[in-house]
Amino acid sequence: MSKFEDRDFVCKHMMLRKQDIVKAIHELKLKNMDDVQDETGAATICGACYDDVEEILHEELKKQKEGEV
Ligand code: FES
Repeated sequence: MSKFEDRDFVCKHMMLRKQDIVKAIHELKLKNMDDVQDETGAATICGACYDDVEEILHEELKKQKEGEV
């Protein structure tokens, strides 16, 4: 599980909370980090949040695959 709660900021540069990233992943059908970066701007400034954003992406894709969302 991700160490972030829904309301926690994951990407401080782009002011993105976990819930913002999760919403974008599902609504915009983002499949990889390039998609996430293009659509949300997450991890495009300093990159320090890249691994955290990627972890969230993988969790959400897994949920989609398992039919949880
Ligand atoms: S914290 Fe996300 S790009 Fe810097």
